[in-house]
Amino acid sequence: MVSPSLDRQKEIYLNGFAGVQPLVPISNLLMEEAAQRKLSNRAYTYIAGGAGYENTLRSNRTAFEKYKIVPRMLHDVSTRDTKIEILGQKLHSPVLLAPVGVLELAHPYADLAVGKAAASLNVPYIFSSQSSKSMEDVASAMGNSLRWFQLYWSKSNELVKSFVQRAEKCGCSAIVVTLDTTMLGWRTRDLDAAYLPFLEGRGIAQYTSDPIFQKLMEVEEPRAKRKITLQTISGLVQMVKNYPGNNFFLKLKSGRPIKAVQKFINIYSNPALTWDDLKFLRTITKLPVLLKGILHEEDARKAIDFGMDGIIVSNHGGRQVDGSISTLEALPSIVESVNGKIPVLMDSGIRGGADIFKALALGAKAVCVGRPYVYGLALAGEQGVKEVLQNMLTEFELTMGLAGCKNISEITPKTLARL
Ligand code: GLV
Repeated sequence: MVSPSLDRQKEIYLNGFAGVQPLVPISNLLMEEAAQRKLSNRAYTYIAGGAGYENTLRSNRTAFEKYKIVPRMLHDVSTRDTKIEILGQKLHSPVLLAPVGVLELAHPYADLAVGKAAASLNVPYIFSSQSSKSMEDVASAMGNSLRWFQLYWSKSNELVKSFVQRAEKCGCSAIVVTLDTTMLGWRTRDLDAAYLPFLEGRGIAQYTSDPIFQKLMEVEEPRAKRKITLQTISGLVQMVKNYPGNNFFLKLKSGRPIKAVQKFINIYSNPALTWDDLKFLRTITKLPVLLKGILHEEDARKAIDFGMDGIIVSNHGGRQVDGSISTLEALPSIVESVNGKIPVLMDSGIRGGADIFKALALGAKAVCVGRPYVYGLALAGEQGVKEVLQNMLTEFELTMGLAGCKNISEITPKTLARL
C-alpha cells in the first residue's frame, strides 16, 4: 500500500480554507509549548525533563544537525512505499510508539487513548511497564493491532515471569527489556519539583493488576515515618484513587494502596542484573527479545552472543546518564558491529520525518517515537496522538520521496552528507 501523504497535506489545507485549524500544532516546537501551557508544572517537568544538566537531552537533538540529507532528482517517486518487516512482523512504516510511563499525567485515558490511536494507524505500540492502564485493558482497546511489551526487570523473577506471560496473553509479539534504568537517573527538574508520580500510585497499573505483585504485597515493606501535611493527604487520596476498585473507603481501610506503592518502590528495579540473567527470559518465553538502552558496540555484539533478537539504541530520552552519547552518534558503529545479524532500532530525539530518514540512512531498521505523541495526548487525547503520528509519518514519506527514494531500501548512507 502507498501511504496517502499528499492526502494529509490536502486535508490540512482544505480544513484551513474552511476555517478549521489543525487540532495540534504541526510544528514540534509549537506543539511542545502548547502542551506545556496545558499540563500542570509537575506533569510537564516529568515528561519533558532529562538527567543532570540535560546535555544528553540536547545532544539527542543536535546530533541530527551533523548529518544533512542530500536529495537526488528525477527518480520517479510517484509511488512511495514505507513498509518494512522486523522480526517477521510487517509494519506499515518504520515507526513504533516508544514505551512511556505515567501517561495519566498527560490525559486521563492515558495508554488507552494511545493504544487506540496507534491501532487506527497500524503503528505498533510498545506497552510500558510503568503504564497508567493495565496491558489487558489497552490490548482489548487495540483489536489485533501490533503491540510489544517493555519490561522493567524487577527484583522478583516471579513478577518478571508474570509480566511476560501476561504480555504473551495480551498478544504482544516481542519483549523489549529496558537495561538503562536499573536505578532512576538524577532528574534535576523532578528533583527541584520534589515530585515522583509513583508515590501517588500513578504509573503502577501493571503492578497493581498483577496476581504475583498482589501476593508480594503481603510481605510488608518498612515504612518511612513522615510528618503528615496537607500535601501528604492529597497524595494519599490520589494513591487510593489510583488503586483498582471502586470503593474509596474500603480501599483506604485495607491499607493496600499504600502497601502497593511501598512494594513497588522497593522492587521495581534491579541494579544487580547481569548478562547471564537474560538466560532466564529465554526459559519463560518464546517471544523475540530486544534489548533497549544499548549504546556501546561491544554490548551490541554481546546481545547477539546472548541470543537476543534485536536491540534498541537508546539513552532513555536523555533521562538517565547526563553526558552520555547521543543515540544518533552511537548508531553507526553499533550498526557496523551488528553487521545485519539482528535488527537495530533507535529512539531518543526523533521529532520529525527528516530525523526518521537520517536514522534509517545510518542503519536503523526503525525508530521509536516518545515525547511528541505524549504532547499530542496532552493536547487532544486519542485524536491528538493520531494527528501527531499522521503528521510525522507524512513528513517522513515526503522527505523520502523528495530525497529521491521510492522505498526504505533506497535510504542508504549515500543519501547523507556528514558535516
Ligand atoms: C521511566 O521509565 C521514566 O523514564 O520516567
